[in-house]
Amino acid sequence: MSIAMDRACAEEIIPARPTPPKDTPTLAGMLLRPGGISNLIASYPAFWYKARYCDFRVGFSSNGRGILVNEPEAIRKILVSEAEHFPKEENQLAILKPLLGNGLLTTEGQVWRRNRKLAAPIFQHSSIKDFAPLFVRAAERSVSLSLENSGPFSIDKEMTRLTLQIIGEAVLDADLDDSAESISDAVTRTLDKFPIIFLATAFLPNKVRNRVVEAIVSPTRRQLDPYARSIVAQAERQESETTLIARLMGAAKREDGEGLTATQVRDEVATFLLAGHETTATTMSWAWYLLTLHPEWQERLHDEVRDVAGERPLTAEDVPSLLLTRAVIDETLRLYPVVANLMRRADKEVQLLDDLTVPAGTTVLVSPWLLHRHERHWREPHRFDPTRFMGEEAANRPRHTYLPFGGGPRICIGAGFAIMEAVLILATYMQKTRVRVLNADRVMPQARIVLRPNTSLQAVVTPRQPDIRR
Ligand code: HEM
Repeated sequence: MSIAMDRACAEEIIPARPTPPKDTPTLAGMLLRPGGISNLIASYPAFWYKARYCDFRVGFSSNGRGILVNEPEAIRKILVSEAEHFPKEENQLAILKPLLGNGLLTTEGQVWRRNRKLAAPIFQHSSIKDFAPLFVRAAERSVSLSLENSGPFSIDKEMTRLTLQIIGEAVLDADLDDSAESISDAVTRTLDKFPIIFLATAFLPNKVRNRVVEAIVSPTRRQLDPYARSIVAQAERQESETTLIARLMGAAKREDGEGLTATQVRDEVATFLLAGHETTATTMSWAWYLLTLHPEWQERLHDEVRDVAGERPLTAEDVPSLLLTRAVIDETLRLYPVVANLMRRADKEVQLLDDLTVPAGTTVLVSPWLLHRHERHWREPHRFDPTRFMGEEAANRPRHTYLPFGGGPRICIGAGFAIMEAVLILATYMQKTRVRVLNADRVMPQARIVLRPNTSLQAVVTPRQPDIRR
């Protein structure tokens, strides 16, 4: 894999991506290609970025075969109108279930429907606004901590600490600051084993696969369980329903008088804890990377924030006015969608397009990574240009070409939460600082369940004004 950045011309820097191979990946090709197994997106051939749909085959088991779909109308059917016939692909669940149990992300059918209904009001815009002061307070503390570093520091680790602190308080009213490092190390250890998990899912029969995955994931689960349990105990003691988990427990009790079992609550806590921090932290890391390549955008964001709020702390009411800041987050999620692949399996024959019918049992891959860089859907798809998310260009964009949060009934329940959180973190940093990632020329995206940079981002953060340190 070439690490050097593509430079179209001196001023125009194209953000890092693996150079696609010419041909469809084969097992031998993937094993021989540097990073081929450890980085799935590196094995996606050039024509996948142009195709409407095509077959793929990786491995020997039926798990490794399927159809890649890039056509918005077919994607609408898979994720929205025919969603009930496209449950989540079993391999993805086999990886996540041992860690998350039967939480919102990993259940299907009746159990999922009930829990989604219970959780939905908690994630409505009116409820999320209550968390804005927390987002801003935590972001301001993060700015202070970053400014305290006299030299380069790992800004990706700071983003993980920050988003864990936020999710800890919002979901659970728990101070996870002291545990942040061990939680994030446990998550990283599991994600780093993804190549083995991938091989197990593509090449082994299901029983053996489950044993391999269980062996890899169970140490992480054992590490997370004490946090989840203490959070559940704390939520049970609480009188008021200020946290997401307390609201969920209260709503369940009101619905049927019985509420959620301890195991159900544990699984939802683990789900919110993991789905709710790693994704936003990684998005922020990609934003720092992109804004290092395009420092002129840091000046534009600084001007916007100062126009909207001056030097006062930002609020939820400011968010609709922070249009450029929001566009930078949208563009970051387009170029580096943390959930790079969505997998489903047809449970009956479905006609997706005039010329495409998928038989029952077909694995379907909808890849935000490919879709967001598809030559027919985007102008200059590999360039960083947040203005594509503003004005008419954004208004006229066909649906189902931009899916950082998935789509249909299984769309990310935390999307509104994540966007408000990311906008307020970015705006608070831009209000007070400049950020530069020193090793940006060595960064490459790596798809391991989530799409992460392949290396820790070493950054320097400098104050906008000499007296900004507190
Ligand atoms: C930038 C941040 C985030 C991104 C890019 C993201 C992305 C996604 C995607 C793509 C899915 C759908 C997966 C699929 O269909 O297979 C999903 C589901 C989910 N996300 Fe997020 N997410 C983010 C932040 C959050 C946050 C902050 C929370 C919680 C506070 C959260 C909780 C969940 C849950 C519970 C689900 C499962 C929903 C269901 O199936 O009903 N996510 N997320």
